[in-house]
Amino acid sequence: MVDLMGLDRAASIDDLRLRARRRIPRFAFDLVDGGAESERNMRRNIEAFEEVELTPRYMVDVSDIDMRATLFGQTYGAPFGMAPIGMLNAFWPGADLTLAKLCKRRNIPYVASSAASTTLEALATAADGNGWFQLYVSSDADVTEGLIARAEAAGYTTMLVTADVPAAGKRDRDIRNQLAVPFRITPEVVAGLIANPRWSLETLIHGKPNIANYADLLQGATSYADVQKTLITPGFTWEDLKRLRARWKGKLLVKGILHPQDAAQCAELGCDGIVVSNHGGRQVAFGPATIDALPAIAETVGGRMTIILDSGIRRGADMFRAKARGADFTFAGRALAFGVGAGGQRGAERAFDILQLELIRALGQLGVPSFAAVGSS
Ligand code: FNR
Repeated sequence: MVDLMGLDRAASIDDLRLRARRRIPRFAFDLVDGGAESERNMRRNIEAFEEVELTPRYMVDVSDIDMRATLFGQTYGAPFGMAPIGMLNAFWPGADLTLAKLCKRRNIPYVASSAASTTLEALATAADGNGWFQLYVSSDADVTEGLIARAEAAGYTTMLVTADVPAAGKRDRDIRNQLAVPFRITPEVVAGLIANPRWSLETLIHGKPNIANYADLLQGATSYADVQKTLITPGFTWEDLKRLRARWKGKLLVKGILHPQDAAQCAELGCDGIVVSNHGGRQVAFGPATIDALPAIAETVGGRMTIILDSGIRRGADMFRAKARGADFTFAGRALAFGVGAGGQRGAERAFDILQLELIRALGQLGVPSFAAVGSS
């Protein structure tokens, strides 16, 4: 196929990010690209990966590289999945379904966010057996139970409970861009729409993005505080997690773990796994990079439960680094989102291909022909 968009010339996830930035209005781009406060933690995630050096071993037969990974009895085509991202259709119209279908085609997990801009039922259909569900615990127990019951009915068998949002993160870019509920049309917004006609047209076709799973509940919302109360709660505790564990019959993982003792407590409560994550540096600016937090966690709970790592994955070698430090699997958030922003479905495919080819090369260069065999040595 002729590469009219020039996507084949995007060599890295960073190249795709720059392409996305050129096609998307500032306020929508920043919504995904931004982090908490000074964004130190967001930058640190990436720097810390780069600081983990890997020493090649040569004269190993690497003519047949196997990067498959098995989780909970299901074998995936690559050791990374799509992290849950809320309101992603605001970044690029139709992004949720594009990514859910990509994950099915490439046989990797797709995690449907509670706060997605597409319903969890439609995402389950699109991901077709590769869908996992991410739960935000609401301040209203009925809202939480309603989501769990819907996820069950839609056929999800793996649920991630996100623990790292006792309050919404403070994102300075969103404040500067005057993002508010209800959405306000400012002169900057108008300028952004005119400067990005493709995004504006697609948004017109797809309709205004919303938080689809709560569309009815949020109809009358007049402030961020209303939205937050529906979506999250500062009162989520270990007692609630215990109840969720008893309630959810499928696999249950806790997302947003950074402390070894929290990881140990998840194991004691019978959780099947954790996601070592700092929400892509969107919650706090002062925390550790996940690749730095990982070794102590792996030492505490490795072998007792599945460990997944996200936040800062931008290169195939990052998955190798994560596995070498004790993770079983990884999630990419922005990396795949930037692909969609750079070129819709073809951009998403390009992002996947870049990560996959980089990983295959890393395995070959490092003399480890199978991802499953990557260890600390
Ligand atoms: C997120 N993340 C997230 N996590 C979650 O559990 N539920 C959610 O709804 C969201 N929403 C969300 C929106 C946006 C715009 C971003 C960028 C991230 C966090 C996400 O699942 C994941 O932890 C990070 O994206 C990982 O960091 P990288 O890969 O983006 O660096």
